[in-house]
Amino acid sequence: MTTRGEGHALSIEATGVAHHYGRRPALGGVDLAVAAGEMVAVTGPSGSGKSTLLHALSGVIRPDEGQVRLGGHVVTAMSEDARSRLRRTRVGVLFQFGQLVEELTLADNVALPLLLERRGRGDAITTARAWLARVGVEDLADELPGEVSGGQAQRAALARALVTNPGVLFADEPTGALDSRAGESVMELITDVAAEEGLTVVLVTHDARVAAYADREVVLRDGMLDVDEMVAVR
Ligand SMILES: Nc1ncnc2c1ncn2[C@@H]1O[C@H](COP(=O)(O)OP(=O)(O)O)[C@@H](O)[C@H]1O
Ligand SMILES: [Mg+2]
Repeated sequence: MTTRGEGHALSIEATGVAHHYGRRPALGGVDLAVAAGEMVAVTGPSGSGKSTLLHALSGVIRPDEGQVRLGGHVVTAMSEDARSRLRRTRVGVLFQFGQLVEELTLADNVALPLLLERRGRGDAITTARAWLARVGVEDLADELPGEVSGGQAQRAALARALVTNPGVLFADEPTGALDSRAGESVMELITDVAAEEGLTVVLVTHDARVAAYADREVVLRDGMLDVDEMVAVR
């Protein structure tokens, strides 16, 4: 497995990002800069706009207003197709529930992003198995997601998120469905792999213990970053 170093990581720059769902405001003009290789936690109460911000930063949605840059890409100026290609190749995402395909083995789940990029099956499976080893679940490569624990499934989901060697990882409540021990071990894994790969990470959580793994924490309230509460965690 090659370590890409910080040269591979993407910086993030969001300016004036605002979004509504119908008439309901979700984000009210957010400015956020994340350096390449930095790990930032976005915290805040439920409904404060954390997931919407993550979707805007990762190009899942185009916000109503504002600009998002990922490295040299102005995500907010890109077509839907270009955004989804960027997401498939340069962006990794991890959700609360692994969202693995239940009918596929862990190895096939992790290989999937490579197969979507038309990599040959043998090569994709070899790379997938190497990533499963990296996250400590190589023994479970041929199991279905329903046959492994929540923490093991989340490790496989992290392998799937990183198998294309993205420059940034977006994680939305990645420990939200785990007990505290499994959650801690997944956070240690994310922190270690991010450091080894030189990855930029934006981590959404409402758990202060999870946020403490980040280099820096920013707080969202009612769709606005609470500037007074920007605290350096480390
Ligand atoms: N798809 C959606 N349709 C309508 N309203 C939504 C949708 N997603 C989120 N919202 C609303 O936008 C606001 C912010 O939601 P969200 O970004 O999910 O916050 P958080 O992740 O912090 O809980 C909330 O008021 C929520 O109800
Ligand atoms: Mg959310």
